[in-house]
Amino acid sequence: MVKDVIIALDFPGREETLAFLDRFPAGEKPFVKVGMELYYAEGPSVVREIQARGHKIFLDLKLHDIPNTVKRAMSVLSRLDVDLVNLHAAGGSEMMRAALEGLTRPDGTRPLLIAVTQLTSTGPDMLKKELLIDTPMGETVLSYAENAAASGLDGVVCSPLEAALVKERCGGDFLTITPGIRFADGELGDQKRVMTPARAGQAGCDYLVMGRPITQAEDPVDAYRRAVQEAKDGSRP
Ligand code: C5P
Repeated sequence: MVKDVIIALDFPGREETLAFLDRFPAGEKPFVKVGMELYYAEGPSVVREIQARGHKIFLDLKLHDIPNTVKRAMSVLSRLDVDLVNLHAAGGSEMMRAALEGLTRPDGTRPLLIAVTQLTSTGPDMLKKELLIDTPMGETVLSYAENAAASGLDGVVCSPLEAALVKERCGGDFLTITPGIRFADGELGDQKRVMTPARAGQAGCDYLVMGRPITQAEDPVDAYRRAVQEAKDGSRP
């Protein structure tokens, strides 16, 4: 059962972002994703502002550095009080454990921490020729997911097509956060391996990340509601 649909706020700045959020009625507060573009443009203040409006936030900054640096950066991010943050599993188990430590507040609470396995922009050719990894892509993704689970992380970002296998290998409670979601009658854009909200729900995805099908829709509120309904209903194609 899909827990929520997260809207990717891929906007260049604060003004466009808030104008988009203003289209939703006062009582409707979608879970949103703030990525590198918006965060680097506006800094933590835009996160606080969105939060003050009542939205849950996935801060998608994909940290990847030596364990001590990631631990200290996570400790700073934990003060922002967002709901979900992420890092690259390629940084290794020690880095992931350090990140968890840094993220945990003095009272023991922390945002959920999830790992990026292999970026969906990395193809099999690049994996072999540039990263010099001979293991097939699917196996690499699952192995990174297992490392993340063993390090105590809460889940991974993965393709909806990989979600069922990740659950099989890492346990049903291990979260799958999946971009690459498109309506059956929608544009693909640059996403290649996609699923509809309903199919993603059936595949066991926990959180669906959707950007353009909602942000670029003529009626974004309607598109968002349709995504939530299809994901939770699951009876559509
Ligand atoms: O517009 P669209 O629905 O394709 O947006 C998907 C969002 O998920 C974007 O913010 C993109 O950066 C992010 N993402 C992705 N694939 C990944 C990781 C993140 O599309 N593997």
